[in-house]
Amino acid sequence: MIDNAKYYYIITYGCQMNVHDSEKLAGMLEKMGYHPAERIEEADIILINTCIIRENAELKVFGKVGSLKQLKKKNPDLIIGVGGCMMQSEEAVQQLYEKYPQVDLIFGTHNIHHVPELINRIKEERGRVVEVWDKEEGLIPDLPSRREDKYKAWVSIIQGCNNFCAYCIVPYTRGRERSRPPEDIVTEVERLVEKGVKEITLLGQNVNSYGKDLEEKVDFADLLVRLDEIEGLARIRYMTSHPRDFSQKLINTIKDGKSICEHFHLPIQSGSNRILKKMNRGYTREGYLNLIKRIKEAIPDASITTDFIVGFPGETEEDFAETMDIVKRVRFDMAFTFIYSPRTGTPAAKMPEQIPEDRKKERLERLMELQNRISLENNQKLIGEVLEVLVDGESKNNPEMYSGRDRKNKLVIFSKKEGIKGEIVPVKINKAQSFTLFGEVIDLSVTRKTLSTIEGR
Ligand code: 5AD
Ligand code: SF4
Repeated sequence: MIDNAKYYYIITYGCQMNVHDSEKLAGMLEKMGYHPAERIEEADIILINTCIIRENAELKVFGKVGSLKQLKKKNPDLIIGVGGCMMQSEEAVQQLYEKYPQVDLIFGTHNIHHVPELINRIKEERGRVVEVWDKEEGLIPDLPSRREDKYKAWVSIIQGCNNFCAYCIVPYTRGRERSRPPEDIVTEVERLVEKGVKEITLLGQNVNSYGKDLEEKVDFADLLVRLDEIEGLARIRYMTSHPRDFSQKLINTIKDGKSICEHFHLPIQSGSNRILKKMNRGYTREGYLNLIKRIKEAIPDASITTDFIVGFPGETEEDFAETMDIVKRVRFDMAFTFIYSPRTGTPAAKMPEQIPEDRKKERLERLMELQNRISLENNQKLIGEVLEVLVDGESKNNPEMYSGRDRKNKLVIFSKKEGIKGEIVPVKINKAQSFTLFGEVIDLSVTRKTLSTIEGR
């Protein structure tokens, strides 16, 4: 630690959108002169970026805020701020303000660019500040981000969501869809590549809607084409895309692109048409299966992953059987599985026929068991293959090993080797588990071109 220096610590809950917002918060705090603290106890300012997409996310936030009381006791000058999606709910703000006097600052999702100003106000007035905007006022301006990773970066392309899926709180916390102009995105990515970034992930609640709100006639596929032309950019990923408006043009663009990864994360949520309709998802199981067929026709070895919600109001055993059936048909590489959690203010929270918790849990277990078996079988097929892996560095769970991801976003663990951090290296797979592959780095003289042939592209 540096004498007299001020330190910050940020705790982030929830999705990548929040992770990226936290990078922006960190960037702004550093501009104010704060340094990142290694331990929370060293911080002069602590920010919590919250999530309310599911109930457990919300409970975790309150638990964390409660635990900070001790730190505030020890250091009364400590500033504690809470922001993000949960703060877009009046109820949550009220509860936090009344029950947690240790919190000095409350801000929402639409005004993170005001945080430095709000912090200065707290310092000057030594009071508590609450500033939450109901609505988006255009896009959150481009802010300096402090990115953790040197080789990978998140780039926001569209904020908000217009879909109003019946269970989802996001349209209420993040507002309507607002796309960033393509020139801004291209410039940001070019700058990142100049700094050594090899992989970017384009972020939006629904990236396929990109451009619909812009005057310029541009869609997500057009944006991908422009980014794909950037020299030195090895990989483009994106999340999340909605299965409803995934066009053939987009599939063809991904097929023809050189750096666009052949990984499709397409949240299906349920395999039952009756439930999909109640969820307001705008597609049927047949439509979804047809989309998968079109993707596989264009890119036979594409990786497909998804999200499921089990126990949506009114979900019968027959509906759930349809979900299990779709898992067997599509054979997803991976799925995020969630128990339905009623969110106040969404239509589904008011629907009759809420499913008892134990039945939801029991269904979740059955679904996870099936999916894990399929993930394992899919991964076992990769034994003996050579994957193109971008090396992240030390593996979180096995620090004596390195880890990285292949183009299909598969997590690969392998022995450390000097000088390969941030490089794309060929790894021969020798062992597979449901969520992880293990292998060895092979001859580094194998060029990208040869690798592409190995991957059959
Ligand atoms: N309950 C459970 N899961 C939810 N998700 C969104 N809202 C809810 C909710 N109320 C899940 C969906 C979505 C993922 C990001 O979170 O599966 O795709
Ligand atoms: Fe929520 Fe549906 Fe929008 Fe995704 S598409 S953020 S699930 S409302």
